[in-house]
Amino acid sequence: MKHHDVIIIGAGAAGLMCAASAGYRGRDVLVLDNAKQAGRKILISGGGRCNFTNQKVEANHFVCSNSHFVKSALARYRSSDFIELVERHGIEYHERDHGQLFCNDSAKEIVTMLKTECEWAGAKIQLKTEIGDIAKLESGQFKLATDKETYTCDSLVIATGGLSMPKLGASPFGYHLAEQFGLKVLPTCAGLVPFTWHADQKLKFEPLSGIAVPSTITAKDGTQFSEALLFTHRGLSGPAILQISNFWKPGESISINLLPGIDARAAIELVLANHPKQSLRNTLSHWLPKRLVEALFDEALLNKALNQLVHSELEQLAVDLESWKIVMNGTEGYRTAEVTLGGVDTDELSSKTMQAKSVPGLFFIGEVMDVSGWLGGFNFQWAWSSGVAAGQAV
Ligand code: FDA
Repeated sequence: MKHHDVIIIGAGAAGLMCAASAGYRGRDVLVLDNAKQAGRKILISGGGRCNFTNQKVEANHFVCSNSHFVKSALARYRSSDFIELVERHGIEYHERDHGQLFCNDSAKEIVTMLKTECEWAGAKIQLKTEIGDIAKLESGQFKLATDKETYTCDSLVIATGGLSMPKLGASPFGYHLAEQFGLKVLPTCAGLVPFTWHADQKLKFEPLSGIAVPSTITAKDGTQFSEALLFTHRGLSGPAILQISNFWKPGESISINLLPGIDARAAIELVLANHPKQSLRNTLSHWLPKRLVEALFDEALLNKALNQLVHSELEQLAVDLESWKIVMNGTEGYRTAEVTLGGVDTDELSSKTMQAKSVPGLFFIGEVMDVSGWLGGFNFQWAWSSGVAAGQAV
């Protein structure tokens, strides 16, 4: 039986960050993972360039049943701290819209940086290790059976992530362990995920696959995002849809403004004043792809000249363009979701240390807990901040 001060299960973003942070404090740290590679989600993130944080990170960029929970960890390890780390490792990066920071070259650099930090801090990473039974001993230590060895440790950190992308090894391990120790796990569902069509919508909209337009999308609870909307074979995607999916519940409609920043009624009336005989089809095709216009409105209406439109038609057009209400069938689920909503209830954890209030020595960090960020680097920032919070306490 081998003993370590700290065992971290999960060599992903949060686990590696926690390992380095604890290692630098002189703790003897072992990271265990059943995968062949550390940080696999980091490697595929941000289209291979990893959107590793955001210039502006605030509590309202996170979905969590306790909106205050994230504040302490985010304040103690800020995005500027991670940027400073990235710069120290000579990783070049750039800023995209909405303050999102990406590697210039490859997400691999972030994984290499984290592994290097672990090495410098003396934290060991052991991959391809299946975890078996875990128990808390009377001494207060934890005992872990694995397919390689049995271990004991003083602090056990669970960093096994959520359920998104099962083909990358996502597992419910962390939720089961939390339940084993009597901690509440809130219901989970896919987040930052594309929507799918109902059968009748698919017939109509599938030919639009590949079309992207600017949009403002509003969820039932009023949450709103202004970003690109993408039509796919299966449904709707693009940043606006991924963002709104975190705030959507099955059966709810979403409202899409296809002409953000334009007053549709006034714009059509302006064209009417100058070109009264122009068809509605040609008019709308100035603002939107023609195929989209033809899928949204019926042929007879589109063929009308602007001066043939009656008042009620103009009114309805403005409504359809500025608040197109659509009820989607569902989401693509965990298969393509970037995150998992729900998870270990934050009420069970200390917001300062991530330690379970009722189980001394047991910590949960990263996506396994009920904290999910918006699209834009916030999920990794949570992994870094919660990882450091636990790393300072284990
Ligand atoms: P993470 O999933 O990273 O790590 C969990 C680790 O636990 C894995 O190594 C896994 O193998 C291991 N594990 C699981 N079960 C186990 C078991 N039973 N036994 C042993 N080990 C086990 N976020 C962001 O901020 N910017 C971005 O650009 C992106 N892009 C992105 C793209 C795609 C395609 C996805 C799927 C996700 C993103 N994300 C993102 C989200 C981000 O990847 C995610 O929030 C973090 O990786 C979460 O970090 P964790 O360390 O909590 O889990």
